[in-house]
Amino acid sequence: MSGNEERTFIAIKPDGVQRGLIGEIIKRFEQKGFKLAAMKLIQADEDLLRQHYCDLKDQPFFHRLVRFMSSGPVVAMVWEGFDVIKTGRIMLGETNPTDSKPGTIRGDFCIQVVRNIIHGSDSLESANTEINLWFKPEEICDYTKCQDSWLNG
Ligand code: RTP
Ligand code: MG
Repeated sequence: MSGNEERTFIAIKPDGVQRGLIGEIIKRFEQKGFKLAAMKLIQADEDLLRQHYCDLKDQPFFHRLVRFMSSGPVVAMVWEGFDVIKTGRIMLGETNPTDSKPGTIRGDFCIQVVRNIIHGSDSLESANTEINLWFKPEEICDYTKCQDSWLNG
């Protein structure tokens, strides 16, 4: 990665996979100019998901969230680029799809807060923790794309 770039963890939740939105979501990140650094379709077990959402363990919806997230495969991804953590969250929309503007992923494709089709890291610290939780270092690709020099000034 070059100096001003960062990585974020993005996951298409089981409802996004079931509803056939994998391609649409990947398209948006590619189209924006971000670089895919890792990707896998994975049936996550409850232990992994409890760790992933450990900050929410005291929330009343925690068990429902873990059950939902383990109800089918998810697409786990690492995306890379300038300010990708903050921009990724903007592309996702608000946690509650009702508050999400049209043009965002949640604003365009879902209506209910638990089934909000996509996860994105919310800080540099959580991005690093989540990437290490879901991926081994050797699963993450460091490579140059021919568009890189056209995206960064
Ligand atoms: P995420 O971590 O999945 O990207 O979502 P987020 O940052 O926008 O929201 P967060 O507060 O981290 O919540 C994680 C996920 O929990 C579900 N949720 N359900 N009131 C509820 O029933 C409720 N609130 C949150 C959502 O799936 C949310 O994305
Ligand atoms: Mg969150």
